[in-house]
Amino acid sequence: MSVIELTINDRAVRGDIESRVHLGDFLRDTHNLTGTHLGCEHGVCGACTVLVEGEPVRSCITFAVACDQQKVRTIEGFDDDELMKRLRRSFSIHHGLQCGYCTPGMLITARDIVRRFPDADEARIRLELSGNLCRCTGFMGIVTAIKAVLADLKTNPIADAPVARAIVSDATTSAPAFQTFAAAPAAAPQAPVATSAASPDQPTAQRKGWTAIDDSFVVPFALEKVWAFMGDLPSVTSCLPGAELVEHDGESVKGKIAIKFGPMSANFAGAARLDRDDAAHRAVMRGAGQDNISRSRANGDVTYALSSEDGGAKTRVAVTLEYMLQGPLAQFSRSGLVKDFVRRMIADFGARIPAQLGGSAAPEAALSASSAKFNAGSLVWSVVWGRIKRLFGKGD
Ligand code: FES
Ligand code: FES
Repeated sequence: MSVIELTINDRAVRGDIESRVHLGDFLRDTHNLTGTHLGCEHGVCGACTVLVEGEPVRSCITFAVACDQQKVRTIEGFDDDELMKRLRRSFSIHHGLQCGYCTPGMLITARDIVRRFPDADEARIRLELSGNLCRCTGFMGIVTAIKAVLADLKTNPIADAPVARAIVSDATTSAPAFQTFAAAPAAAPQAPVATSAASPDQPTAQRKGWTAIDDSFVVPFALEKVWAFMGDLPSVTSCLPGAELVEHDGESVKGKIAIKFGPMSANFAGAARLDRDDAAHRAVMRGAGQDNISRSRANGDVTYALSSEDGGAKTRVAVTLEYMLQGPLAQFSRSGLVKDFVRRMIADFGARIPAQLGGSAAPEAALSASSAKFNAGSLVWSVVWGRIKRLFGKGD
């Protein structure tokens, strides 16, 4: 059991719960907040969407213990919210609900869309709404309701919504451009610099819709040996279960990666360009791909920088993964559990390197290497266990 303290709908709450309880059950069973609906309980349908620290999350794949010291807002917590009042009215007028099962999650997502995209057109609304499924297929009414609220806000803005205004003024007002991959040779990578215009070199904090994950691992080999390995794309690919190299020429690469996360399967096919700075031992791989199952698209940059440790006997590989998902799989870009999962992937990748470089393979890596498809299930327990250990202060 774990003791957590959090704020739910502006009310301080203390709970003594099992670590495995997800936020949706905690809200419904412990606090009787049954407006949060549970549909799939796999992070797919969006019925369970609530706000955690102001961001929509799926409460069914968020552990309640992970919300310790956080602010949670459920559909019951918007009674004084003028924007939510307008959305509720509009859903009613435009028949944006039938059975109503998806409606709490739809409303919270709709509010997020309206705040972030004040100029959203129908295509943008549908794209952003793609992580919420209405089993009654009432999407036409829902989209019309959101469009009506956006139009109303143009002539009748909400005066007393400072948070909304701040976000609106900071928002990207049109769909973020999906970068198409260009295989033209590029200059050696530079450290990201802050600029006002959106560009691939911007820090993620300035790239709307991007998620960044930083991590590092240490391998027991000299820096130059690791640097040479990281430039050997077939060897690097062999350390990523589910990844397949289709063609490469040292700088440009085309490939595929199959990923399974719970009930979701994705087979991303795409292309990337590797820019290596031999002097700085730093490289950036920029890529783009599409999953032909869900029609989701992804842009991603993987930056890695090497530095010597232990008098040159070991090398630290600092990795920054920045990515943006668009389409149905975009729902997974915000989950803390997914971020933990990606960190585990990076650690797993680092654990496989010794085997490739002729050293002894880590047992855990050898185990995972047998997977033909990258199956999150094989790592989910270690991710969950890592979270539990952190909660009890034992570290990873
Ligand atoms: S119940 Fe959480 S996404 Fe379906
Ligand atoms: S209104 Fe029935 S699931 Fe959406």
